[in-house]
Amino acid sequence: MPRYSITTFGCQMNVHDSERMHDVLRCAGYTEAGSADEADVLVLNTCSVREKAEQKLRSEVGRLARWKRERADRVLVVAGCVAQQEGERLLKQMRAIDVVVGPDNIPELPGLLGDLAIGGLPIARTVFDLDAPRFLVASPPSPSSSPRAAPTAFVTVMKGCDERCSFCIVPHTRGPERYRPSDEIVAEIAALVAAGTREVTLLGQTVNSYRDPLGALPRAPGASADDPDESEFAALLRRVAADVPGLARLRYTSPHPRHLTPSLVLAHAELPVLPRHVHMPVQSGSDRVLRRMIRRYTRAEYVARTRALVEAVPGLTLSTDIIVGFPGETEDDFAATLSLVREVGFKGLFGFKYSRRPHTPALKLPDDVPEGVKGERLARLFEESEALLAAHLSALVGTTQQVLVEGRDKERGHGGAGGALWSGRTGRHEIAHIDGAGELDLLGEVVEVSITRANKHSLQAELTEAARAAARPRQRGGGLDARPGRRSLPVVAAEGG
Ligand code: 5AD
Repeated sequence: MPRYSITTFGCQMNVHDSERMHDVLRCAGYTEAGSADEADVLVLNTCSVREKAEQKLRSEVGRLARWKRERADRVLVVAGCVAQQEGERLLKQMRAIDVVVGPDNIPELPGLLGDLAIGGLPIARTVFDLDAPRFLVASPPSPSSSPRAAPTAFVTVMKGCDERCSFCIVPHTRGPERYRPSDEIVAEIAALVAAGTREVTLLGQTVNSYRDPLGALPRAPGASADDPDESEFAALLRRVAADVPGLARLRYTSPHPRHLTPSLVLAHAELPVLPRHVHMPVQSGSDRVLRRMIRRYTRAEYVARTRALVEAVPGLTLSTDIIVGFPGETEDDFAATLSLVREVGFKGLFGFKYSRRPHTPALKLPDDVPEGVKGERLARLFEESEALLAAHLSALVGTTQQVLVEGRDKERGHGGAGGALWSGRTGRHEIAHIDGAGELDLLGEVVEVSITRANKHSLQAELTEAARAAARPRQRGGGLDARPGRRSLPVVAAEGG
């Protein structure tokens, strides 16, 4: 049986696409190789959202040229956003590449590999499925499957993007917005939950612009028929909450502030399944820059919308994405971004230096903020956000939190006072490491902990007496090392998107 290996770059959407490539390859009779060296087919699932993606791919392919030369029948596949963006050109520029496959063409991958195996030429397949959008899902885990499904899972609700943010390549690499019928979304979540999944993250490039293509959702409370920013996302959240009562947590990423409408705020206020944390990319705190970025909201609108959310759900935390050094960004513009970070009080922040991307409207603008200034602004931004996070985490010491245990602590393995150490996330998404529960099997459980210490980016915790009394003991010799249902994808440079 031919063996394959997949390396993933970029966002959760790419991680999800890699899982679908695992599925289609395994269904076609391939098995996963232990390492690239043992693989017959190597897939690079690429990301082009920031900085020199094409050069990075070129050097990666250069490095793999030797791997290819070792055996004539080895196959190199480039998938993901660089594949979609460059298509056939990649085959001409890098002779080591055999197959280029776009995100919408994943089901065709085994067929393309088959053609190649019987002497076909290198081929690029990068066609958007505009007429009949396909949303690939894992074959539903059976309720009695062993190992059980992973505690957390991603479920795609839409793909593509109709925004035209001037810095962003996504509309080019992922095409226009296409939505998945709500019946399918609910069915996938119900099957996951029946097999043991506790938390689902709804995925989409602008996830809260969701509309049901079948028109099957009733209008959500608070939804306005004549607000152009209204969507059916709140209605979708309500339907999932009502139809899958066993789901413990329902997250989503990444939303656009434009669609943070009163109906979505009301859903957060009324649905306990929505955790008290939202990642809401703002990109800049300066109206002048927001206009040039074509974000379609002002700073005041962002503040008012997120404030409404926090007022509706006391204790809700926000995290965000910010770009520094966008063309024309002055020191005053950047100061406005810093002041917004303080004003909103973000508890998490992904910061990026602006980089010119092909096919984006901002290419017309000169990239005039010097590299050194971008670096210095990014450092100041992180200083601000780290201080906010540190204050937030230390304020939690001594409190009680509900943690969904996602696995054994990766960094510290068997360390910790009582043997193995478990880790998971609180309802607000803070990472919590649980000390002294090595003899217990906590995987997939929502447990009550008290916070004992704040680390730089996480919390240290221990089980409360009640949680300890209720927990299952670990089976001897079993279970602890298995991460049920979770394949070990080599995720490179995964960042919140
Ligand atoms: N330059 C820098 N950062 C970018 N992002 C998207 N495009 C660019 C670009 N051209 C960032 C945005 C987005 C995150 C996923 O990546 O902050 O929210």
